[in-house]
Amino acid sequence: MSKYVVAVVGATGVVGKELIETLEARNFPVKTLIPLASARSAGSTVSFHGADIVVAELTETSFEGVDYALFSAGGSISETFAPFAVKSGAIVIDNTSHFRMHEDVPLVVPEVNAHALKGNKGIIANPNCSTAQLVLALKPLYDSYGIERIVISTYQSVSGSGKEAIEELEAHSRASLNGRHYEPKVYQHPIAFNVIPQIDVFEDNGYTKEEMKMINETKKILEDDSLKITATTVRVPVFIGHSESVNVQLKRRPESMDEVRALLDAFPGLSVMDNPEKSEYPTPRELAGKDDTYVGRLRYDLSEETGIEMWVVADNLRKGAALNAVQIAEALIA
Ligand SMILES: NC(=O)c1ccc[n+]([C@@H]2O[C@H](COP(=O)([O-])OP(=O)(O)OC[C@H]3O[C@@H](n4cnc5c(N)ncnc54)[C@H](OP(=O)(O)O)[C@@H]3O)[C@@H](O)[C@H]2O)c1
Repeated sequence: MSKYVVAVVGATGVVGKELIETLEARNFPVKTLIPLASARSAGSTVSFHGADIVVAELTETSFEGVDYALFSAGGSISETFAPFAVKSGAIVIDNTSHFRMHEDVPLVVPEVNAHALKGNKGIIANPNCSTAQLVLALKPLYDSYGIERIVISTYQSVSGSGKEAIEELEAHSRASLNGRHYEPKVYQHPIAFNVIPQIDVFEDNGYTKEEMKMINETKKILEDDSLKITATTVRVPVFIGHSESVNVQLKRRPESMDEVRALLDAFPGLSVMDNPEKSEYPTPRELAGKDDTYVGRLRYDLSEETGIEMWVVADNLRKGAALNAVQIAEALIA
C-alpha cells in the first residue's frame, strides 16, 4: 500500500492534536508526519505512533514533498499558505472557513457528497463543525421525503473556539465557585454557568457569521439553493460536543417515526439514540470521543403536518473537524 507524507498545520491546537490522533487511530498510511505551528510552538513535540515528532515553524517552503496538507490554524493562515502547499503538489484539506464558499472548492462530508471531490483543484474544504453533523442528519431525510424548511438552534461547546476557550471555561468555573472575579478573554460574556447567543461576529442582517455559515454551507453540501434555512447559534459551558435542536419541514409526512428512526440509523456515520421511556437521548458529555453523529428526541412536529423535530449531537473535534478531514483524505485515496 502507498504511504504518504502528511503535514498538519496547527498541529498544537485542539483540532491539530485531534487530527494527529485520528490519523493514528485510523491507521492512515503515513510515511512521514510533519507537524507545523507558529514560532511559539516550534521545537515542542507531538506524539505519533509512539514517537515524539518535533513541531516545525510553518513557512512557505514547509510543503516540499508533502502529499496531504491538513490545515487548522485559522482562516488567514490557510489563505496565505494553502497556495504554497498546492504549488508544491500537495492536496490541501482545510478546516478553516476561508475556502468553504469558493465556487471551485468542494465542501465535503464524505457520507453526504463524496462525489464533489472529483475535479478538485488541490483544495478541499471541511465544513463548519455545526454544519457537518447537521447535514449528516438531514441527508437521508432530504433523499427520502424532500425538505422544505429547516429551523436550527445550536448548543455549541467551547472547544469549538480552540484551546484558549477550553482554558477560559475551566478557569472561569473555578473562579466562580471560589467567589473570585474572572475577566473573560475569549468570549464577550462570562461563559461559566451561562449561555451566550453569539458565535462569531454579527452581520448586517442581524445573524452572526456562524449562523450564516450553517445556512450557506448546508445549501452548498446538499446542492440545493432553494432550501429555506434559519439558525440561532449559542455557546454553552460544555467542553466538547455540539448539540442541535432541529425542526425540519419535510415535503412529505413520514408514515411513522419508526420509519424515520430506521432510515437515520441505517445512514453511514449516524446512530439513533431515542428511548424516551428510559430517558435515553444523546448528550454531548456522554458522546465526546465518539465518531458517529447521534440523533434522538425524534417526534412529529405538532404544529405542522409534514414537520419533524430532532436533537442532533456530535463531537465537534471529531466529525466536526478532524475525523471528517481524515475521511476526506481516505476518500481521495480510495
Ligand atoms: N475547534 C473546532 O471544533 C473546529 C472545528 C472546525 C474548524 N475549526 C477551525 O480550525 C482552526 C483551528 O482551530 P482550533 O480550535 O484548533 O484552534 P487552537 O486550539 O487555538 O489552535 C490554533 C493552532 O494554529 C496554530 N497557529 C496560530 N497562528 C499560527 C501561525 N501564525 N502560523 C502557524 N500556526 C499558527 C497554533 O499554533 P501555536 O501553538 O504555535 O500557537 C495552533 O496549533 C480554526 O480556523 C477553526 O475555525 C475548529
